[in-house]
Amino acid sequence: MKYSVVFFSRTGNSKRVAEKISKALGVKPIEIIQESPSFKGLFGYLKAGYYSMRNKSVKIKISENYKDTDRYIVVSPLWAGKPANATVEFLKLVPPGKVTLVLTCIGSDTDKIVNDYESKNGKFKSHYGIVKKLKNEEKVIDEILKNLQK
Ligand SMILES: Cc1cc2nc3c(=O)[nH]c(=O)nc-3n(C[C@H](O)[C@H](O)[C@H](O)COP(=O)(O)O)c2cc1C
Repeated sequence: MKYSVVFFSRTGNSKRVAEKISKALGVKPIEIIQESPSFKGLFGYLKAGYYSMRNKSVKIKISENYKDTDRYIVVSPLWAGKPANATVEFLKLVPPGKVTLVLTCIGSDTDKIVNDYESKNGKFKSHYGIVKKLKNEEKVIDEILKNLQK
């Protein structure tokens, strides 16, 4: 089984998680880069809020070749009740059945959010929530790796 770990990250949490999973799988993480608009800095934070609440599209590029893979482990921040806009753009490019989605967030119910997303876009292979309030990062990463090996 060929795995690709793909991530989008604005402030580093999803990047850190993607790097841990990549290291354990022995692959190089693939970055979803948001080409425009920029969400950097305080103004970028406000803009990200506006874009996520309005489901607005953004322009992305992918750092490496992401095709020709059996399973995508997509790591993304959760923004206003869905994956970040750049991640949504990436998810349009790959079949949901090949995706394990890992959402990082502060305190939202990621199961509910993924169920809502799947009802409109198709079911993922599996999904996980890394929730700051629950301090479950290491536990969830272990669970992801264990389940991928099954
Ligand atoms: C625009 C925006 C919206 C967010 N909305 C939520 C939310 O609805 N629920 C939540 O728990 N965290 C929310 N967050 C927090 C991020 O999901 C969390 O900090 C995430 O781990 C950031 O990932 P990153 O460091 O990879 O960018 C939001 C952050 C931003 C910037």
